[in-house]
Amino acid sequence: MSKVVHQPLGIGLHVAIIMDGNGRWAQQRGLPRAEGHRTGVRAVRRVVEAAVQERIDILTLFAFSSDNWRRPTTEVGSLFELLREYLDREVRRCVEGGVRLSVIGRRDRLPAPLGVAIAAAERATASQARLRLRLAVDYSSRDAILRAARLRASRALEAVATREVFGRLVAAPELAPPGLPEAAGALPAIPLPTPAEAEVDLLIRTGGERRLSDFLLWESAYAELMFTDTMWPDFGPPELGAALREYRRRERRFGGLAATG
Ligand code: FPP
Repeated sequence: MSKVVHQPLGIGLHVAIIMDGNGRWAQQRGLPRAEGHRTGVRAVRRVVEAAVQERIDILTLFAFSSDNWRRPTTEVGSLFELLREYLDREVRRCVEGGVRLSVIGRRDRLPAPLGVAIAAAERATASQARLRLRLAVDYSSRDAILRAARLRASRALEAVATREVFGRLVAAPELAPPGLPEAAGALPAIPLPTPAEAEVDLLIRTGGERRLSDFLLWESAYAELMFTDTMWPDFGPPELGAALREYRRRERRFGGLAATG
C-alpha cells in the first residue's frame, strides 16, 4: 500500500534556515562585513514576523556555527554583540507576537552578557506558544549527535533505545559543555524537545552555497531542501512565502511510494 504524506502548512511545521551571504552582501556594496550582519538582523526580524503570519510552528535559525570561531575575533565579537542586542530588544516584541525564544548550542564559551541575555529572553518568553523560535548559537550538529550518543551510552540512559527518543536527545538544547554530565555518569537534566523540534520539514539556505555546514544533520533526514542565491539581508516575507509554496508542491514520501490514482 503506497502512502504519501502531504504536510499541510501550519500543522507542526518546522522550518530551519542557514542565513548565509551577509558578508558578500556587504562587500558587493563596498561596506564592511559587520554592516552585512547588521542588515541581516533586520532580515531576522522580518522573517520571524512572517513566520508567525505563515503559521509556522518552529523556526530554527543558524546564527553562529561552532566553526565560526575560526573567524577574526572582531567579527566574532560583533556577531555576539548583535545577538545580545537582538535578544534585549526583541523580547517585548516576542511576547506581543506570541513567540517563544530559545537557544540551542553550547553556552559555556559565550561571553557572559550574551549568556545573561539568552537566559532572560528564554525566561520572559517561556509561556508564548504561537511560534517557537530557536536560535542556534555555537552550534554543531555533529557535536550534538556525539553528545546524544554519549548520553545514550551512559548507564542511566540504557532505556533510551528508540530512534525517536535518541533523535529528541540530539535535538535537546546543549546547556553544558560536551563531556561533562556523561563523564560524571549522572542523569543529565535535559528537557527533551518535542518530536516536532526533532524533525525539520523544510531547510532553506540563502547565499548561493549548496551545503548543510553541520546544521541539524539528524533532524533533516527527511527535510525538503531549498537553496536560494538571495543573500540573507535581502531575504524577507516574499522569499519565505515562495519557499513555503514550493514546499507545499513537493511530495513527501519518506521512503514510501507516490500515491496513485
Ligand atoms: C553567514 O553570513 C551568517 C552568519 C555567520 C551569521 C548570521 C547572523 C545574523 C544574520 C545576525 C545575527 C543573528 C540573529 C539571530 C539576531 P557570512 O558572513 O558567512 O556571509 P558570506 O558567506 O557572504 O561571507
